[in-house]
Amino acid sequence: CSEEEQTEDYLFKIVLIGDSAVGKSNLLARFARDEFYPNSKSTIGVEFQTQKIDINGKEIKAQIWDTAAHSDMNVVTILVGNKTDLKDAREVTTAEGKSLAEAQGLFFIETSALDSSNVSSAFRTVVEEIY
Ligand code: GTP
Ligand code: MG
Repeated sequence: CSEEEQTEDYLFKIVLIGDSAVGKSNLLARFARDEFYPNSKSTIGVEFQTQKIDINGKEIKAQIWDTAAHSDMNVVTILVGNKTDLKDAREVTTAEGKSLAEAQGLFFIETSALDSSNVSSAFRTVVEEIY
């Protein structure tokens, strides 16, 4: 292989699932393009974006699919509580989220696509777990 061909070490596929309007598309928009859409429309069909993530000096290409999807046993799943910027409208406490995640054996992270908090950590966590 040439140097060029060796730069990308892995390709991981990541699927975003969750109820409508929880912010899946905006988490991806924030992560992949650093954009936020205050009035985004519901996703129709499937869309994906690719984003390169450096883990321990290895370049990982994350192909992130924005759609509802089936999963098999061999997947890494994390539970993401989005919209933390809406402090006054919080419906689930951090402790509740954590204990649900623990009960299901999932990682838990709280994010905001609006103010960017923890968005890249969320995606990095998935990639690190697969890696
Ligand atoms: P579907 O495509 O219907 O499944 O919805 P989705 O999960 O992709 O939700 P989407 O990203 O379209 O966001 C729905 C609404 O929530 C939009 O009006 C977004 O602007 C808003 N939104 C998304 N993330 C956040 C966030 O972190 N904070 C706040 N305040 N609003 C958000
Ligand atoms: Mg969407």
